[in-house]
Amino acid sequence: MAEKPFIIAQLTDPHIKAGRALAYSRVDTAHAFETAVAHVNSLTPNVDAAIVTGDLTDKGSLAEFSEVRPILDALDCPYFVIPGNHDDPANMKAAFADHGYLTGTGDFLHYAIDDYPLRLVGLDSTVAGAPHGELCAERLAWLDTLLAAEPERDTLIFVHHPPFLTGIDHMDVQNLHNADELFTVLSRHGQVRHIACGHIHRAVDTVIGGIGVSIGPNAAHAVSLDLHPAGAPSFTVEPPMVRLFRYADGRLVSHLSNVGHFDGPHPFFAEDGSLID
Ligand SMILES: [Fe+2]
Repeated sequence: MAEKPFIIAQLTDPHIKAGRALAYSRVDTAHAFETAVAHVNSLTPNVDAAIVTGDLTDKGSLAEFSEVRPILDALDCPYFVIPGNHDDPANMKAAFADHGYLTGTGDFLHYAIDDYPLRLVGLDSTVAGAPHGELCAERLAWLDTLLAAEPERDTLIFVHHPPFLTGIDHMDVQNLHNADELFTVLSRHGQVRHIACGHIHRAVDTVIGGIGVSIGPNAAHAVSLDLHPAGAPSFTVEPPMVRLFRYADGRLVSHLSNVGHFDGPHPFFAEDGSLID
């Protein structure tokens, strides 16, 4: 018998500010994030777990984490956080002190969640004081050991900084700088089904070394889709979305779910079984 599908929502880059201040004096990120959380809660079948792929806050302060925490706690499912470049990892650890998985090793907030049909591995790609991402030798060795311990467990890795170039140059300079070293580690293991990232504020997908890699869309502001070389940094308030992953029978697929109210669903077929024309 087919196993029950495991459904994961990805929320990313909410950039919540203290006092619910507008991001860039324009974007109500707190309201947008609350709406995205309510959307995830409204989905049927129910979402089993959520991953939050960094930049929970805009400046990384405890006050900002205090603002984002109750919004996330409104999720009906368990959720798992990793830091982005806008987050202070020490403040994140303090703000989520009761999240037992967030112990990390050394200075790094990385972990594995083994409670689900799909193993979830959160990485900490942050570099103190820098916007780009990197996985130092210590973090790569931790990942190598972790994957070697459970070679048969299909695994989803999530990490804030994307390990590829999107073509949006002003963001690409801040990507995961040593992506090649990450894929050298992954090439020694066969169970990683997908890598889910944040940081770019728009849905992007690629395949590297046979592994699907995607970036989650934003529920508030998107980095503008400007593929001109050296295009100017800008953002656009686009239709909000969340990414969903569905894992069943050893297959992981992803969907983009629009946040909002839309006409439908309408049936294709009449009660007599004929196609409505
Ligand atoms: Fe970021």
